[in-house]
Amino acid sequence: MEVLEICIGSACYVKGSNQLVEEITKLLKEEGWSDKVQLKGSFCMNYCQNEKGLGIRLNGHQLEMVTIVNAKDLIREELKKIL
Ligand code: FES
Repeated sequence: MEVLEICIGSACYVKGSNQLVEEITKLLKEEGWSDKVQLKGSFCMNYCQNEKGLGIRLNGHQLEMVTIVNAKDLIREELKKIL
């Protein structure tokens, strides 16, 4: 089981991370990955402080330069590599 964490701390929340959780939930269903990927909310990952984008971790590894615009595509690409 892969673990995808999306930060729902205040800085990421205002950038739309709650909306992203909904989008990724849909993506997992569309791709048939719902039973392979555990989607979890997370408190602040201290990633917002350097303006690097949304706090998102896949199996404990931070994804770089993720924004609300590119998040869905980046996450899909990262999951395709391992599923
Ligand atoms: S609020 Fe998301 S990384 Fe800090």
